[in-house]
Amino acid sequence: MRLAIRAVGIVAALAFVSVAARGQETAKQEPGETILTAACQGCHDSRHVDTQALDEEGWTKVVKAEVARGADVKSADVPVLVDYLVRFHGPLPDGPGKEVILNICTQCHDLQRVRRTRLDAEGWAEILDTMLNEGAPLTQKDFAAVLRYVARNFRP
Ligand code: HEC
Ligand code: HEC
Repeated sequence: MRLAIRAVGIVAALAFVSVAARGQETAKQEPGETILTAACQGCHDSRHVDTQALDEEGWTKVVKAEVARGADVKSADVPVLVDYLVRFHGPLPDGPGKEVILNICTQCHDLQRVRRTRLDAEGWAEILDTMLNEGAPLTQKDFAAVLRYVARNFRP
């Protein structure tokens, strides 16, 4: 009886170890993301970051301003954080449709998904249809504005 209980304990422990190992693999975080999580989520959620699309200069300004506000970022970490922000929350060209992208498309994923994709209007319409199926709250009017915006700015 005791033996059986111990055996179950060992099996459970092994299962835990393997789950933990797999978790580590999938959650291989970028250093910049680790800094962001530690320093930037104490006062507000990530929407402030998600809804910005800035270049290096813009993000450097924001990070400096937030440090002045009390964000705890070591100066050596600032370039790492800025580099991360520029890659995942980088600039978008101005124009009608941009606001919708910032507010709607960032609800499920970062902007890198959008910025690295290059398609013609037909390909983009297919993507946007897929996003509607995923549950993106896009009105018909916004759909048309976003389609025009991405087809113009992110064509092959
Ligand atoms: C000490 C609290 C605090 C910390 C930590 C903090 N913020 Fe903020 N942040 C604020 C406040 C306050 C605002 C003003 C808006 C608000 O009240 O939510 C703000 C606004 C922002 C905005 C919007 C700026 C704008 O002009 O619209 C961005 C972007 C931002 N924070 C990014 C960051 C980043 C990146 C970090 C980590 C480096 C960070 N914040 C850490 C307090 C903080
Ligand atoms: C309700 C959640 C949600 C919203 C909102 C959303 N997406 Fe997505 N998006 C997804 C999911 C989930 C995937 C991943 C699908 C996959 O990998 O098959 C994705 C993937 C993508 C991709 C990559 C597709 C590929 O095949 O590489 C692009 C581009 C994209 N989304 C653009 C957008 C745009 C533009 C918007 C705003 C109009 C948007 N998304 C809004 C959920 C969403």
